Amino acid sequence: MLVFEKNAMTEEIEQLVAKYGNNRSSLLPILQDVQRMHKHIPDFAQQEVARLLGIHPVEVYSVITFYSFLNTQPKGRNIVRLCQTIACDLFGKKSVVKAVERELGITFGETTKDGKFTLEYVNCLGMCDQGPVLLINERVYSKVTPEKAIQILGGVK
Ligand code: FES
Repeated sequence: MLVFEKNAMTEEIEQLVAKYGNNRSSLLPILQDVQRMHKHIPDFAQQEVARLLGIHPVEVYSVITFYSFLNTQPKGRNIVRLCQTIACDLFGKKSVVKAVERELGITFGETTKDGKFTLEYVNCLGMCDQGPVLLINERVYSKVTPEKAIQILGGVK
């Protein structure tokens, strides 16, 4: 008799479904937990979430691509996000972009070779009077200057 071992990813997602419930409203919290654990949401995880919630995989994929905090590919250990919306633009976002890109040797949308940093743009973070606004992982930095950005990055492990 053949015995199939359950995939570890399937088990994780089953636990999340047990935690949040197997309805549509559980989709986002489940995806957020998978993202937290794996730094991205692999194809297989997307399929398993869809199967266990009884929804189409395309629906799972479209939720992931809608939210900039969810991603289908692995990213750096530290995600550096810079607000690209108009108020932060007016406060000097461009000079922060140049400084950060020069410091890390990559452009926005890329990950450093050592996997330490990924640079991304985000839309308004709700602190429009304190721009430019930088978000590193879950910590927000306001009124960021090029010098301050370099100093902040230097302190990230
Ligand atoms: S425009 Fe950057 S935080 Fe709102």
